[in-house]
Amino acid sequence: MAAGISQHGMWSSKLGFVLAAVGSAVGLGNIWRFSYVTAENGGGAFVLVYLLAVLSVGLPLMIAEVLIGRAGRESPINTLIDLARESKASPAWSLIGWSGVVAGLLILSFYCVIAGWTLSYTVTYAQSMFAATPAIANPGEHFGALTSSTSSLLFWHFVFIVLTIGVVARGVEKGIEAAVRFMIPSLFLILVSLVIYGMTTGHFGTALTYLFSPDFSKVTGSTLVAALGQAFFSLSLGMAGLMAYGAYVPDKASIPRLAGIICAADTGVALLAGMAIFPLVFAFSLDPHTAGPGLVFVALPNAFAQMQFGNLYGLAFFVLLAFAAWSSTISILEGGTAYLVERGLSRWLAATLLGGFAGIVGIGSVLSFTVWSEVRLADRNILDFTNFIASDLMLPLGGLAIATFAGWVLAEPLRRNQLADISDTSYAIWKGLCRYVAPILIALVFASGLGLFG
Ligand code: TRP
Repeated sequence: MAAGISQHGMWSSKLGFVLAAVGSAVGLGNIWRFSYVTAENGGGAFVLVYLLAVLSVGLPLMIAEVLIGRAGRESPINTLIDLARESKASPAWSLIGWSGVVAGLLILSFYCVIAGWTLSYTVTYAQSMFAATPAIANPGEHFGALTSSTSSLLFWHFVFIVLTIGVVARGVEKGIEAAVRFMIPSLFLILVSLVIYGMTTGHFGTALTYLFSPDFSKVTGSTLVAALGQAFFSLSLGMAGLMAYGAYVPDKASIPRLAGIICAADTGVALLAGMAIFPLVFAFSLDPHTAGPGLVFVALPNAFAQMQFGNLYGLAFFVLLAFAAWSSTISILEGGTAYLVERGLSRWLAATLLGGFAGIVGIGSVLSFTVWSEVRLADRNILDFTNFIASDLMLPLGGLAIATFAGWVLAEPLRRNQLADISDTSYAIWKGLCRYVAPILIALVFASGLGLFG
């Protein structure tokens, strides 16, 4: 194998990587989760703390993941084994890669259930695209009907799993890069047109005030914790997903610049999504605080039902959400698939085995809406429990370990070579963030995930 080339293929350019990584980062997290978490945490104050979390923890950690990936050029598991050996550290650091694969399969298992809803809504709006009557006249009932039908939930869940496998199986360039090259620009286009629509509602100013004028009396410990948790999930950090993508980044590309672009794009999309969603929320007198996770699937369709061209608008919105989710699930599956390929499996078989496994585990999350709705694990239903284990426990722990590995364990020349383009001062700042700031803040989130703060 030639130096500087991964056996799995390479992004055709820096842009290829940026699109794929932005695709990974931008997902249900930015649009569905960001909007209701912001609403639950009081708007502007949360947004400000979120921006600080992205800068102080998200960016340095993203640099660390991509750097480790490029330094090893293999699946996260084998990359960590190699780099640990070269740094004279224990091969046990590869546990980060294993835990990433497990966390990824768990996230995939419930993420595809919710992503499946976006497909179902897309089809519903597409069917009455030009109709004069609302595609969904009673959103609460519609959502209730979808989430109480085991067969519909299962169907859309597995459609999403198959879509994900289909792209990953086709490989880095022909599958992932080809898919995101078409999805990400469409996504931006749809999003911007939705924001422009938001400007015409007469409530754009209210939405901007809500998002950007912080009420500092609302900043509490739990705001900080919610913001950091949201940053992890939204930036795809902590399960070595971007480490997998980093392995295919060309040698010459500047990792800090790429990471900066990805963080900015991810945050930009979240804010734009807020500017598209909240004007509608205010225009149609919906209460942002009480909508919760249903904000996007119930509150917005309520707005679409009252709007002119609401069906078209709804179609655009749910296509956007489906694309965003799809380019994320692809990235979740890639790391484990690359590992099985290194063990000698074909890409098709590897992606099908892992994706199929996540699909089967996801049946538990599907049933948690219907026949197993009474099943409680640590006081949560199965979907919430899976989400809790993966997002609140495994991601922060993984992030803590990755920051520690990059900041303390990795041999100095290995990491400095990957960041050759930045000054000594910038390098020292990055190292300090990885060594001290990120681990301490992450430990706080982790403690809160365990419920130590009540
Ligand atoms: N970031 C994606 C979102 O916001 C989800 C995602 C993709 C993810 N890859 C990940 C979350 C890795 C955690 C870890 O929807």
